[in-house]
Amino acid sequence: MDLSQLTTQEFEQFQTLIFQLSGIQVPENKVMLLSNRIRRRVKATGKESFQEYLSYLKSKRGREELDGFLDSVTTNETSFFRTEKHFDWLKTEFVDAMREQARLGKKDKSIRIWSAACSSGEEPYTIAMCLSENRLKLLNWKIEIHGSDISESSMNKARAGVYGQEVVQHIPENWLSRYFDADEKAATWTVKKQLRDLVTINRHNLTEPNPQKGYDCIFIRNVLIYFSRESKQVVVDHLTRSLRAGGYLVVGPSEGIYDMLGSLEKRSTFLYQKSFHGGHHD
Ligand SMILES: C[S@@+](CC[C@H](N)C(=O)[O-])C[C@H]1O[C@@H](n2cnc3c(N)ncnc32)[C@H](O)[C@@H]1O
Repeated sequence: MDLSQLTTQEFEQFQTLIFQLSGIQVPENKVMLLSNRIRRRVKATGKESFQEYLSYLKSKRGREELDGFLDSVTTNETSFFRTEKHFDWLKTEFVDAMREQARLGKKDKSIRIWSAACSSGEEPYTIAMCLSENRLKLLNWKIEIHGSDISESSMNKARAGVYGQEVVQHIPENWLSRYFDADEKAATWTVKKQLRDLVTINRHNLTEPNPQKGYDCIFIRNVLIYFSRESKQVVVDHLTRSLRAGGYLVVGPSEGIYDMLGSLEKRSTFLYQKSFHGGHHD
C-alpha cells in the first residue's frame, strides 16, 4: 500500500469533505501535512489506502469515524491566557460594562460567556478565573461559561480539566494554587470544583446556528483563520445572532472579519460589540 502522500485527486476529495464537515479550507500547499494527519487514521482504522479510508468515511458505517477524522485534521493548539490583553479587558472593562448595564436596567445580574472553539479548555477556564477574581464586584451575580468544539478528544480534555506542568506555566502562581489542585506524583494540576462548576463543555459545529442566544460575550479566537471566506461569514452571522444587543465578540489576531460585520461595531483591534439599535435583536 502506498501511504506516502495523497494524490492531487485524493487531496481535493479530502479537502471538500473537510470543508463540508467543518468550514475549514485546507490550503493547496498543505498536502504533506494533511497526508501525515490522515495516514494515522488510515492505519488506526485498519484500512489499506487513502481511497479506501475515504470511501469508509463516506459510508454509513464510517459515521463512527468522523469524529476521529475531524480530530486528526484540526489544529488544537491553545494555552492559558493566550493573548493576555483580551483577558485584561475581560476582568476590568468588560466586568465594569456589565455592572453599568445592569445598573441602568439594560440587563439582569448575570454573565453568560461562550468560548466558541475552546479546544482543550484553557480558554474557558481562563475566562472563569478572570470572572472569579471579580467575585466581590459580582456578588450575587449568576455566571455561566460555555465551551464548545468539534474535536471530541479536545473536549474530553476540557471536561477532565487536568493539565501538565508545561501547560500551567502561563498561570500566575497565586492563581494556580487558588484554582487548581496539584498532584505532585503525576506532575499534573486539576481544575478545582469552584472553577469547574462555572464551565460546561458541549459539542457545537460553528457552521451551524447555536440555539443558545443572549450571550454577553463570545470568544472566537484562532479558528476562523482556517475557514474559507464564505464559511467565515456564515459563522460571524451565527455568532452575532447568539449575542445579545450590547454583547461583545472577542476575536484572535488573525480572524479577519473586519469586512463582514453586519450589526457588529468595532471597538478595538480585537473587540466588536453588537449594536444596541438596529440589526438583529435576538
Ligand atoms: C487553534 S484552536 C483555538 C483554541 C482557542 N480558541 C484559542 O484561541 O486558543 C482551534 C479549535 O477550533 C476547533 N474547530 C475547528 N473547526 C471547527 C468548527 N467548524 N466548529 C467548532 N470548532 C471547530 C478545532 O477543533 C480546535 O480545537
